[in-house]
Amino acid sequence: MATLVLGSGCTKGEKGTDVSPSDAHANHDQHDQHGQHGQHDHGHHGHGHNDELNEHGYKGHTFDDPRAWIERFESPERAAWQRPDEVVAGLALARDAKIADLGAGTGYFSVRFAAAAPQGRVFAVDIEPKMVEWLSQRAADEGHANLEGVLGEANDPKLPEAVDVAFMCNVFHHLAEPQAYFQSVATQLRPGARVVIVDFRKDAPEHAPGPPQSMRMSPEQITEHMQAAGFRLARKDLELLEYQYLLEFVVTD
Ligand SMILES: C[S@@+](CC[C@H](N)C(=O)[O-])C[C@H]1O[C@@H](n2cnc3c(N)ncnc32)[C@H](O)[C@@H]1O
Repeated sequence: MATLVLGSGCTKGEKGTDVSPSDAHANHDQHDQHGQHGQHDHGHHGHGHNDELNEHGYKGHTFDDPRAWIERFESPERAAWQRPDEVVAGLALARDAKIADLGAGTGYFSVRFAAAAPQGRVFAVDIEPKMVEWLSQRAADEGHANLEGVLGEANDPKLPEAVDVAFMCNVFHHLAEPQAYFQSVATQLRPGARVVIVDFRKDAPEHAPGPPQSMRMSPEQITEHMQAAGFRLARKDLELLEYQYLLEFVVTD
């Protein structure tokens, strides 16, 4: 991973010294995609347990400090099971595709989409203003002119343009109202668009990365929400990733 220089003057690499494991959030996140060995402490700081919404309007941890998350989101350990390049290659994106990375975090997938669709546009959406700031700065620092940070709302990604692919990795289980969210997404898609959802399996082993089991959703649960929002399941891949599934939806005819 290339070193990332932020406007704040901090310099971060894969093992950036200013991203200490004792950072406020890093310490209590031994799960989600960020940790390897579950401590399952979503109740830390009194928020985030299962269906409980945190003060930012979504379930689970808050993601308001990019520096606390970068090391985990972008770690080589994650790459081993997240297989981001294989996930992106499997989408066979057109070079001019317009893509929304919904709940983009630090831009783990967004930068890969930007490289895969050099004549297209990538909207890296997050609900956390500091993540969006980070995403915009990262796009500038890494020279992705086709990548734009977008501040979304809890039930509306607020895309500047309709997209061909709306992608969401490890975010669905955080959504407060998935049906309302995807009803809104449905109005921001181009004809023939796909919605791709990657999330953690419910039956992954206890030591696996990801949220506590009670927060995980099965492909069937996700499909139910998506159907209610006006989508049908077009593809289900249970093989590509060790701990996650990949689901592809299209708007119901
Ligand atoms: C676990 S991180 C996943 C980041 C990224 N997709 C990845 O795979 O590295 C979840 C992200 O979703 C964001 N988020 C939560 N609810 C959201 C919503 N309703 N709309 C947009 N982003 C949201 C959080 O702020 C956080 O950055």
